[in-house]
Order: sequence, then structure tokens, then C-alpha cells
Amino acid sequence: MAALLLIVAAGSGSRLGRPEPKALVPLGGRPLLSWTLDAFAPVAFDRTVVTAPPDRVEDFGRVVGDRGRVVAGGDTRAASVRRGFEALAPSDGDVVAVHDAARPFLRPEEIRAVLAAAETTGAAIAATPVVDTIKRVAAGRVVATVDRSQLAGAATPQAFRAGVLRKVVAAGEEATDEAALCERLGLPVAVVPVSRLSFKITTPEDLELAEAIAARRRT
Ligand code: CTP
Ligand code: MG
Repeated sequence: MAALLLIVAAGSGSRLGRPEPKALVPLGGRPLLSWTLDAFAPVAFDRTVVTAPPDRVEDFGRVVGDRGRVVAGGDTRAASVRRGFEALAPSDGDVVAVHDAARPFLRPEEIRAVLAAAETTGAAIAATPVVDTIKRVAAGRVVATVDRSQLAGAATPQAFRAGVLRKVVAAGEEATDEAALCERLGLPVAVVPVSRLSFKITTPEDLELAEAIAARRRT
């Protein structure tokens, strides 16, 4: 069994609103993507593929270096996963971890725990605790308070036995994560609690927070 890593980084980062693709935005003076690759460095993966915006494959290649292979992603996250999966060309017994480049602060033990859960269950997601009290809202008014104990924030990595991910990819549907596609196919998905440091850099505020964390890690 091989452990394979797919980092999806082909998005533009429209909500971040920067001229360069989000994965190349500087964090502590170097590209966000290089932080994400560092987070995975302590965990042994047999192959790594990174998806890049089609016109930036060479630039991304300079960041990734010998840490993986860069391939052109697609118009949607699901399309990028499809292309990355094809480039990895896994055997059905392999485990494939899919990770958002925009989540740079994973801990190695969290990555290992997601891989182990995927081996056992077939699919597993990193998930963060929901700390706010969540309200269901309609037309600016609170409708109900949702039971928080039944909620989790879906993060990445999400890992799959390659045979499972192959089915998900073949279904050809769109979703914001692969686990949602497993759910639609009725396949079990294990949940691995992870620290809220696995947050996704989505907005300028997220980047500000990430800069503060990066500054502490450099010193
Ligand atoms: N992603 C991708 N291919 C796409 C869209 C997204 O590989 N066509 C990747 C992003 O690069 C990111 C991850 O999926 O690492 C999570 O997506 P998101 O945070 O939504 O990033 P963007 O799509 O780039 O940002 P936005 O939605 O604000 O444009
Ligand atoms: Mg997006």
C-alpha cells in the first residue's frame, strides 16, 4: 500500500482578492504553498501531486521543487481533484490524501490520524470543533438554535482508499469536498478531530491571522 498526497492549489483565491493565485500569496515572506508542503514533510508519502492554475504550472513548479509534481488543475475544485487523481495513478489499495493548499498549519500527527482512519473506514476527514452557538436564520430573524454537539467543521486532509476515491471521481459530480460525494454514494466517512489551526485561508482577515501565526513560527 502506498500513501499518496494530492494538494489542490489551482484556485484563484477570488475571496482573498489578490492579483496572484492564493497558493502563491506570500506568508511570512514565502509562498503559502511552501508552508503547506512543509506541514506534510514529516509524514512519509510515496508520491505528491500539486494542482496549479493551468497558466502557472511552471511558477508552481519552482515552489514545489523536488517535493512533488505539478499538474494543471480544472475550473472547479472537483475538476482539480479529478486531474490530480489521474496524475497520481493510484492502485486501488493505496491511500490518497486530498488537501487544500490554503490550509498551511496542519500538525503531522493529525495527518497520520486521517490516513489511519481512511485505511480502516475507506474515507476519513479532518474536522474542527464548532465553537460558536449556531442559529438557523431566515429573513434576518433567528428561527432556531442548532444542536452544536452534532456539528463539525469539515477541513482537510480528507483521505480515501484509492478505490473509493476512484468511484467518487467517476461519479463526476460537483461538491465542495470529496466526503460529500462519498455521503451521496452511501459510503462511510470517519471523522478525525483536528485543531482549529487547520483553518482555511479564505478572506483577507484569515491571511492576517495566518501572518501572526507564521511570525511566531519563524522566531
Ligand atoms: N482549488 C483547486 N481548483 C479549483 C478551485 C479550488 O485546486 N478550480 C483549490 C484551491 O486552490 C484551494 C482549495 O481548492 O487550495 C480550496 O478552495 P478555496 O479555498 O475555495 O480556494 P479558491 O477557490 O482559490 O478561493 P475562492 O473560492 O475564494 O476563489
Ligand atoms: Mg473556491
